[in-house]
Amino acid sequence: MYSVPKLKSFSEAALDKAVEKLRAALKQEAAAVKNGAEQKAFRDRWMARKDGVLTEINDLWLKAAPKDAKRTVGQRVNEIRAIVEGAVKKAEEIRLHPATGPSSRAPSDALDITLPGIRRPLGSEHPVIKTMHEIVSVFRNLGYSVQEGPVIETDYYNFEALNFPPNHPARDTQDTLFIANQESKPQRDRLLLRTHTSPVQIRTMERMKPPVRIVIPGKVHRNDPPDASHSPMFHQVEGLAVDTNITFCDLKGTLDHAMKALFGSSVKTSFRPSFFPFTEPSAEMMVSCFICGGSGKRGSEPCRPCKQTGWIEILGCGMVDPNVYGFVDYDPKKVSGFAFGMGADRIAILKYGVDDIQLFFNGDVRFLEQFG
Ligand code: DAH
Repeated sequence: MYSVPKLKSFSEAALDKAVEKLRAALKQEAAAVKNGAEQKAFRDRWMARKDGVLTEINDLWLKAAPKDAKRTVGQRVNEIRAIVEGAVKKAEEIRLHPATGPSSRAPSDALDITLPGIRRPLGSEHPVIKTMHEIVSVFRNLGYSVQEGPVIETDYYNFEALNFPPNHPARDTQDTLFIANQESKPQRDRLLLRTHTSPVQIRTMERMKPPVRIVIPGKVHRNDPPDASHSPMFHQVEGLAVDTNITFCDLKGTLDHAMKALFGSSVKTSFRPSFFPFTEPSAEMMVSCFICGGSGKRGSEPCRPCKQTGWIEILGCGMVDPNVYGFVDYDPKKVSGFAFGMGADRIAILKYGVDDIQLFFNGDVRFLEQFG
């Protein structure tokens, strides 16, 4: 005989399963009703106020549901009530009108088109995609448009036009996955998996005259063995603004605004000198740790995400190197601009307090459905 289980999860999928089991049991018990006494027992068992199945469901499912699941569970409980009431009523009719009784009843596997359908769980946006959309929308609000480019890229766009000369050691900072059997081609035409979204800067400037204000979300690959903070495939959001009279102040103001929009108005930004071949000067931007508020501590515990420094490195940036303009036919005497690039997975990790990047890509629904 059916007994109401306690629910371990209140997800749509778990509810679907539990409702299905209940319906199967209800159907079986209803089919066994042959006379008035049995019909009454059937009704009491499912509908008695004190200890009927419906009451138990109310206690074990609805009352036990966490706040944010109450609404869905409530809807389910209402549906179940309607189904049970329907079945009890039908059993009663059969008793009152024996002509339609068990012998003339439809076979138990007949399709009952009046039953409500099984609700399929709705998917939700992947946390990394969600983070990329948030970053992109901050820049869209500033008038930037979105550009994308190929994941399989040529050496020219990934490196050469970004001012990484052939064999330059700066290439070693991006451990590249090359496509096999390209040796017969000139180096610049050889294919690889892009190691960053920066090549789309070049592809865009080839097609568009200044002013350019773009953000570039996308997937990138590096030959990094997977661990808690590395994945051979990850995501970046790149930005580029080129116009007349763009200065480092514009870079700082824009990025400071973007970080406040993303992480809250109280975060601060700080810039440290760095090196990228395609920007000069180059910088790494830090944001004050939005987890510990910049103190480096959480209560008496050290703050792990910022390694107790109070600052988190969030992106690379700089003023576009004049050499880059040479590759796209822009006149470096007339225009100037800034660029930046950030890791979306890393930002998602920080935002959601996830401790292993692999969780994003293992496809475990129990992890992913938490971001619905
Ligand atoms: N492409 C760089 C990387 O993946 C990040 C970056 C740094 C992008 C500076 C930029 C920039 O546009 O200006 O390491």
